Amino acid sequence: MTEIEWWEYDDAAEMAAAVAGDIQFIIEAAIDARGAAVIALPGGKTPIPIYGHLAKAKIDWKRVTIVPTDERIVPLGDALSNVTMIGKTFIPKGARVIPIVPQATADYKSAGRSADALMQDLHWPLDLCLLGVGGDGHTASIFPGPDFDEALAGPKERRALGVMPDPLPAEAPVPRVTLSREGIVTARALMIAVTGQAKRDVIETAIKQGPSSAYPIGRVLADAELPVDIHWAP
Ligand code: 6PG
Repeated sequence: MTEIEWWEYDDAAEMAAAVAGDIQFIIEAAIDARGAAVIALPGGKTPIPIYGHLAKAKIDWKRVTIVPTDERIVPLGDALSNVTMIGKTFIPKGARVIPIVPQATADYKSAGRSADALMQDLHWPLDLCLLGVGGDGHTASIFPGPDFDEALAGPKERRALGVMPDPLPAEAPVPRVTLSREGIVTARALMIAVTGQAKRDVIETAIKQGPSSAYPIGRVLADAELPVDIHWAP
């Protein structure tokens, strides 16, 4: 049974400040312990204010490596590119932000293999994996579709893979590369940040359903060994 702790805030701005503070603490602890930190951050819209706060923190950013939890297979610089959004905030601070899909390609499986090879070169496990959750219950880019089982239960050493969501999500209808469940749940710290009652309802249902959940977030969290902090604002 996964240990879940909910953290509730009055609004998204309050949540952003608190989550940024937690991330800063995790990064600093990793730098103290090992001289470096490796963290995975989600794309989407919810985390943008969190990143704004975090970027203001006095951190030795050149010791920080950031990978997106998942990437849409689009050219760098595209409005849908997660690493472009994350990089805009953190590259000017001096962090190393890794484009896990450096080139858009029609072959999403091979994009996934290349991303996995890049991830294999990073210090592992991640010091932190921050996850977003979609209204349909997807997290990172783990979606129902032909790659769902592989994302959830592929070989243990696989950190990333290519996925073709079915159906394609309306907000970004393109194939993706995502961290695998194994890559996510082996992180030293696992946090979720979401807003809105609808997503909260989906997450609560998914957690209740556990390993048989139809929602990707339920499958990812089921039997996770480390405690999970879920930050939520209306
Ligand atoms: C992606 C994201 C994804 C995101 C959710 C929530 O590339 O689509 O990384 O997992 O976290 O879709 O997105 P919003 O915060 O925009 O609702």
